[in-house]
Amino acid sequence: MSTKQPLCMFIFTIITLLLPLVARAAVPAWSPPLSTRGRYIVDATGSRFKLKSGNWHGASGTWLGIGDSNSDAMSHYGENSYNIPLGLRYVPINEILDSFEALGVNSIRLPFSNQMIHETATVLDYQVQANQQLKGMTPLQVYDAVIKALTDRGFAVILNNHTNKSKWCCGVSDGNERWNESQTAQQWGDDWVFMARRYKDNPRVVGADLYNEVRRDVMVDPNWGWGNDVDWYAAAQYAGDRILTEANNNLLIIIEGINWIGLPVDGLPHGRPTLSGAYYLSHTLVQSNKLVYSAHFYGYTGPNHSGAIGVGETHDPRYRDLSAADLANTIYSSAAYVALQDQMHFTAPVWISEFGVEGRGIVSTAEVNFFDNFLAFLKQYDLDFAIWPLVGYLENGQGNGWALMNWDRNDPNHKRDGLYDGNDWRRDRWNDLVNSSSLTGPVANSTQWKMLNVNQQDYIKSATLLSRGDWDSGARKASCPDDMRLIGLSRSQNRGLCTDATYGSSLWGPSKDSVVVTNEQYVSSDWAARYTKLQCPPNHYVIGYSLKNGGMSSLVCASSQRAGGLGTTGRTMWFDRQDSRGDGPVGGEWAMGDLKGQCSGNEYIAGVAFTTYKNPGQPAALYCQS
Ligand SMILES: *[C@@H]1O[C@H](CO)[C@@H](O)[C@H](O)[C@H]1NC(C)=O
Ligand SMILES: *[C@@H]1O[C@H](CO)[C@@H](O)[C@H](O)[C@H]1NC(C)=O
Ligand SMILES: *[C@@H]1O[C@H](CO)[C@@H](O)[C@H](O)[C@H]1NC(C)=O
Ligand SMILES: *[C@@H]1O[C@H](CO)[C@@H](O)[C@H](O)[C@H]1NC(C)=O
Ligand SMILES: *[C@@H]1O[C@H](CO)[C@@H](O)[C@H](O)[C@H]1NC(C)=O
Ligand SMILES: *[C@@H]1O[C@H](CO)[C@@H](O)[C@H](O)[C@H]1NC(C)=O
Repeated sequence: MSTKQPLCMFIFTIITLLLPLVARAAVPAWSPPLSTRGRYIVDATGSRFKLKSGNWHGASGTWLGIGDSNSDAMSHYGENSYNIPLGLRYVPINEILDSFEALGVNSIRLPFSNQMIHETATVLDYQVQANQQLKGMTPLQVYDAVIKALTDRGFAVILNNHTNKSKWCCGVSDGNERWNESQTAQQWGDDWVFMARRYKDNPRVVGADLYNEVRRDVMVDPNWGWGNDVDWYAAAQYAGDRILTEANNNLLIIIEGINWIGLPVDGLPHGRPTLSGAYYLSHTLVQSNKLVYSAHFYGYTGPNHSGAIGVGETHDPRYRDLSAADLANTIYSSAAYVALQDQMHFTAPVWISEFGVEGRGIVSTAEVNFFDNFLAFLKQYDLDFAIWPLVGYLENGQGNGWALMNWDRNDPNHKRDGLYDGNDWRRDRWNDLVNSSSLTGPVANSTQWKMLNVNQQDYIKSATLLSRGDWDSGARKASCPDDMRLIGLSRSQNRGLCTDATYGSSLWGPSKDSVVVTNEQYVSSDWAARYTKLQCPPNHYVIGYSLKNGGMSSLVCASSQRAGGLGTTGRTMWFDRQDSRGDGPVGGEWAMGDLKGQCSGNEYIAGVAFTTYKNPGQPAALYCQS
């Protein structure tokens, strides 16, 4: 009795002391599915859902450094691989999830490897020692169970194809550099369709993050839009559309910029283009409101620094060497501009899906400054984020402390030693980030602008037209997503611009009637004398077009369900000599170096004119009606 009481008191005191520090705050309520509105992600009610996320890694491998999780390495799977989310060996999953709630995250980026999907051997018992219910499962089944536990608690989950083999990533010869490094792009797409279907019935699985840190291998750089088989722009477009059409049209499609090009050698060009390519060439998916772009920033990397130690990047500063202003400029121009410039073809949410810094041991002033400057930028611009990583191990309080939540591997009770327990300099900074003032509540609808890029292949983004088959055999075809209309066309590259300005997103009637026009039968007046004119029938507007030998071949016209019918006041907008854009630069640079015609946002395109003698077939004028 007398010995017991002080003990109880002691426990009581500890609990009271700990409570405020580990207070659980359930994930705030939200309704799936998620979609985008301008630069914001919104839930089904149209309220902002800011991705305040963390990475929970392990299923795609982990770092095998000293004092980290090396004793968890699986000779079982060969090649030092690790195949399930970290922490399950020492901590019951519910405690891990409690810690995520305390951190204030609402969503989890959950990396997986291709190897994890295909692994048939079950996990070793000790790997899930603290979670007996997971015994005897394959790594994929463990991944399933982790997803269920997360989403039952209200977290949103984003699937991330991180690596091919389950191991720590990111050299130039580890087999994980590129989506097609070890398989064809088609197999990669097939695997994604498989994963997206697997979680289709769980609406809180909200996103497919297509590939982690696309970079060069020893021989070749990935590119953004060249149309060959290392074209990341095209591969992402392909996999994203397949996921939306074949597996689950509710998922957000997350496309990371290019992480690294060039050999990291002094004197040779090399760098991190990240999302700079989207300025001239952005994606239009078959669902117009599902695209999210992403990029990664660590202090030890730089605009021209791979982050590697001991290779020839001696003249290149790292982000941590940049002043706050230079850092802000470089993040803005390589990534954040996508979210921060409104009413552009590329405008979309930007999720910084990895950033982080070590919270223990000796951290340089430069790293601390970087972290402060970086967080200031995230807060100022209210960007979506995911810290790397959430879960890690320490040995007797030592070791790699990048994770926000660490558990001591050598302590008999595997005591937690995380952000809120020990001496982690990031604690107040993290709390500040999570609680910084953000836009919340309903997000206003914003006009969308999307480009059609027919440079290399068909670019049909209407789910309806895709389901109806070929409308002009042998021609190259393009169309807007179902909820948009064509508003611009370029002369020799034949790129297009789509919008939902003024007329909204439900202009096309419920029966989705459309007419393919290949001749002058519907021409209402001679609005382009001596030119060949394709024109839609009355009360129809252009949503698509096709080309043969670089010339116009057909228009696809959708029937309008606008009350009172479409207006019939017309004007001819010539663009064969100079750009002609009704609203100036609105929509952005959607056909760099080409002549562009663009009706105003309160008009629709009723027809396109071209000649058959000089530059045969190249569009020369739009018939804009309102
Ligand atoms: C990628 O993973 C597949 C399946 O596990 C394996 O067959 C292939 O060898 C791997 N490729 C590389 C380059 O590691
Ligand atoms: C991926 O692209 C590269 C570069 O063009 C090509 O050599 C390779 O064959 C492709 N990989 C596969 C598996 O198709
Ligand atoms: C993940 O990426 C690898 C390339 O490293 C690819 O082989 C694999 O098919 C991808 N898995 C999925 C599910 O997309
Ligand atoms: C540094 O990287 C940037 C961004 O990728 C690139 O535009 C620039 O050309 C690079 N500079 C050099 C000298 O490689
Ligand atoms: C954020 O603020 C709320 C309300 O003051 C608080 O309950 C919560 O613990 C804070 N979260 C973090 C991670 O600091
Ligand atoms: C926003 O657009 C959606 C879809 O077109 C529509 O249902 C909703 O009423 C609009 N909301 C506002 C506030 O305009």
